[in-house]
Amino acid sequence: MDIISVKTRPYSDQTFGTSGIRKKVSVFKQENYVNNLVQSVFDCLDGFEGKTLVIGGDGRYYNHQALQDIVRLAIANQFGRIIVGQDGLLSTPATSHVIVKYGAIGGFILSASHNPGGPDGDFGIKYDNENGAPAPQELTNRIMLRAKEIDRFWSVDIPEIDFSKIGEQTFGQTVLQIIDSTEDYISYMQSIFNFSKLKKLFKSGFKMTFDAMNAVTGPYAIRIFEEILGAEKGTVVNGKPLPNFGGLHPEPNLTYAKELVDLMYSDKAPDFGAASDGDGDRYMIMGKSFFIHPSDGLAILTQYLDTIPFYHGKVNGVARSLPTSFAVDDVAGEMGINVYQTPTGWKFFGNLITAGKIAICGEESFGAGSLHLQEKDGIWAILCWLSILAETGKTVEELAKDLWQRHGRVFALLYDYSGLDKQVANDMMNAIRDKLPSLLGTEICGEKIEKAYVFSYHDPVTDEVAENQGICIHFDENTRLVMRLSGTSSVGATFKVYMNKRIRNSSEFMKNPQEVLKNVSDISLEISELKRLTGIEKPSIMT
Ligand code: G1P
Ligand code: ZN
Repeated sequence: MDIISVKTRPYSDQTFGTSGIRKKVSVFKQENYVNNLVQSVFDCLDGFEGKTLVIGGDGRYYNHQALQDIVRLAIANQFGRIIVGQDGLLSTPATSHVIVKYGAIGGFILSASHNPGGPDGDFGIKYDNENGAPAPQELTNRIMLRAKEIDRFWSVDIPEIDFSKIGEQTFGQTVLQIIDSTEDYISYMQSIFNFSKLKKLFKSGFKMTFDAMNAVTGPYAIRIFEEILGAEKGTVVNGKPLPNFGGLHPEPNLTYAKELVDLMYSDKAPDFGAASDGDGDRYMIMGKSFFIHPSDGLAILTQYLDTIPFYHGKVNGVARSLPTSFAVDDVAGEMGINVYQTPTGWKFFGNLITAGKIAICGEESFGAGSLHLQEKDGIWAILCWLSILAETGKTVEELAKDLWQRHGRVFALLYDYSGLDKQVANDMMNAIRDKLPSLLGTEICGEKIEKAYVFSYHDPVTDEVAENQGICIHFDENTRLVMRLSGTSSVGATFKVYMNKRIRNSSEFMKNPQEVLKNVSDISLEISELKRLTGIEKPSIMT
């Protein structure tokens, strides 16, 4: 088998955002776009010859083509073994687990997470390192530099590979191994949770609906919830992964998981509702007519994690991203454990996990994870919730209200203003930054500004500093505003405004978050001058 060197020209836009590279399918379809990117990654790895590489994906449109390209490159670069999920399917957490289980040097995940798919939708590539963690900033920085100057990649001339059959094939020095997409991950879950307790829960008549949103978690969920735990057939809806997600936007939140939300607010609502996103790392939890905000969810998971066998005696700390509400800080304070505040994105949690500083971590954007693997993990989070429901005998709503009774309810809201011009958005952020010192001590819309700063993160493990990770304004210890630009938009820019307010008076717990946070939202518009600069005044999404 001849290894050929192919000449190429660099693309200027191969830059990593919050989580890998995400762009329109049409961008990825450009000549050698995938080859350039993947060879740039290989060029930045040390001594991968003979080592194992994992490739997973959420099955979205263009996965198949990209998978063929990457496997050809990996063979030409002389990896020892390439492990691919059957039909190219492996959720993000399953890929992370497989990387560690098989001692791989790293792995690619072909997904644009919760962004819509299909020929006009988005595609993406993420790279995880040998810990199964998103490539750290130091590595992504080097990859981006390499991608800017790449002039050749290695390839082999082999016929198209069929990824539908489990088994091994050999190409020169390299073994290509196609594995069952769900098996390894599911046996790992069985070692974490008390499955017989969960079986009893379903046996007792407990009802659940899980919406896989036509994305990657369907096969995992059917196997775990219906076949192993005995939930009734039909518990999993939209369970077949489709290249365009059946036209759905596979993002589990109140806007896009509408089918589940409508069911949970109807008189047919089961006891428990859950959903996951395109690549299976996000999750949403609902009770009967009750929505769990992910920030509250992290607080509740932290509180009860020790009751799950795998974590007993191990819950020593928790981390949350900056925009995630401080509800979990209250719980951690009560438990006497440390809280770390990291920038947005999963890559900052890995070091804390590896160093043994935290057992659990999460983000307001429907992500939670733990020391079990270094990506966020939707199905795991849902199994945690089921375990807590089984353990406490409480309903979803009762668990949330217990939290609020003890610490007050921290209302949390995110407004996304999308479709901004990139340059205008960057200029706007710079202008806000410049005016921060002058805002200190002033009063806007009835709130006095006590702190105003740009968040930078000092990694306590590596001493690395990540600058400019969001603008924070604190009004008092109960009220906070965070503003940043999204790092995952495939076109233009999205301005994100995160608002929090802690209310201790229980008669106000059921208030509408939009009302509670109205003045904080007004303040964000006033400080950013969004309307004047962009003409936009209404958020495109409110979560
Ligand atoms: C968004 C979320 C962030 C999450 C990321 C990847 O990033 O806000 O919490 O880690 O997606 O799922 P953003 O678009 O805000 O940069
Ligand atoms: Zn995702």
